[in-house]
Amino acid sequence: MNIKNICCIGAGYVGGPTMAVIAKQCPNIKVTIVDINEARIAAWNSNNFDALPVFEPGLAEIVKETRGRNLFFSTDVNKAIDEAEMIFISVNTPTKTYGKGKGMAADLKYIELCARQIAQVAKEDKIVVEKSTLPVRTASAIKSILDNTGNGVQFQILSNPEFLAEGTAVQDLLFPDRVLIGGDTATNEGQKAVQSLVEIYTNWIPKAQVLTTNLWSSELSKLTANAFLAQRVSSINAMSEICEKTGADVREVSKAIGMDSRIGSKFLNASVGFGGSCFQKDILNLVYIAKSYGLDEVADYWEQVIIMNEHQKNRFSDNIVKTLYNTVSGKNIAFLGWAFKKDTNDTRESPAIKVADNLLNEQALISVFDPKVVEERIYADLEYLNSRDPQENRTLLSVKKDQYQACHNVHAVAILTEWDVFKTYDWQKIYNGMQKPAFIFDGRGVLDKTLMETIGFTYYKIGSGN
Ligand code: NAI
Repeated sequence: MNIKNICCIGAGYVGGPTMAVIAKQCPNIKVTIVDINEARIAAWNSNNFDALPVFEPGLAEIVKETRGRNLFFSTDVNKAIDEAEMIFISVNTPTKTYGKGKGMAADLKYIELCARQIAQVAKEDKIVVEKSTLPVRTASAIKSILDNTGNGVQFQILSNPEFLAEGTAVQDLLFPDRVLIGGDTATNEGQKAVQSLVEIYTNWIPKAQVLTTNLWSSELSKLTANAFLAQRVSSINAMSEICEKTGADVREVSKAIGMDSRIGSKFLNASVGFGGSCFQKDILNLVYIAKSYGLDEVADYWEQVIIMNEHQKNRFSDNIVKTLYNTVSGKNIAFLGWAFKKDTNDTRESPAIKVADNLLNEQALISVFDPKVVEERIYADLEYLNSRDPQENRTLLSVKKDQYQACHNVHAVAILTEWDVFKTYDWQKIYNGMQKPAFIFDGRGVLDKTLMETIGFTYYKIGSGN
């Protein structure tokens, strides 16, 4: 089937960039992205391209090129479903915060609402594509809803998990390592649906890189990919603590093992911990699935990746308190970076949030500067933890417009995100404006130790033993 009209439900960090790139690479396909969040859609439609809801290098240019041509943003979900031959579901699938599986299972209520809405609206056959990350076997639940509440039309369900990384989304979408499409391998209709999605991607991706599998392999591959990636980070972070105790340097260890072709060099940067909306939620989901099949050892194995990550965040803040003579009460600490990684404005599960919360519990005064994260997002992240009164968060933590303001008169600077621009700052000027002794806690290992010590800083770099 030659697809001419696509709809994507969910205009977030995945729906926005993936559909913008499809629109760019397939000018003959009309792509409509819909969302119930009116403010988000208004921001996607705004002419202020610096304030799109998602910051990704190169994204604003693509939106500029395609919006109004064959890319449209709308809140009219029903109309977009009705018009589309293929519907991508790209809504959020957070960890459940209530009921059975609370704190672990994926909350599929948004997915189910989409399925019910599609079932209600569809008057012709549709292909429904799972773009969201879902527990293995979700496609059968979606199919059951569509088949039992629909208007007698035929639905094909495909799984097409997204492997983009925030911060490099556009490059990842233009030149993916592979695209994965799972479908019903038992029927002709299922295979036809798979082929129609293959044809969209092969407009710009070599056919050999478009893999097709059965539905369950595809769904499980996404959870597996995130579990493996997060596990590498927790593994190198575990080594970073041993490095600090033994005088080894985790960057040297990482380089030495990364050159082993069996291991490879990516995802071996020690840090204050991984963040982002996916790693933790997807591993917890995997742990929950394993437990539900009675696979306790498998569940424990993967859960340790999360436990290590929590430990890494806590030991970073503990080290700050210990180094600052066992008390940070009333002391000023600057945070450079709040996003969970560089080149994104996304802060979900950012280690900065937990580190800040720990230090606020110790009555520290924190001033934050991040090049892309807005003030209200930072307060919202803290309020979500519910650790203290929102007003107290605003009293203890302030958000600054630039790095020099944030670092002025502080006892210590903590680096929480690896923004490249931090390396270019005038560190002598920052040192001059600080309390002495002036401490830096480099949670991302971005600064040069010798230079910092020459300026006069007492400098701690994660994973670096003395
Ligand atoms: P997001 O929270 O940025 O966006 C989801 C959007 O869906 C929101 O704007 C929300 O308003 C909208 N939405 C929810 N229910 C809706 C409904 N019934 N009708 C219309 N719109 C609705 O989430 P994000 O980050 O884009 O993630 C989406 C999915 O993609 C998740 O399953 C996630 O695990 C997965 N994923 C995320 C990646 C990432 O880097 N953020 C990477 C790969 C997969």
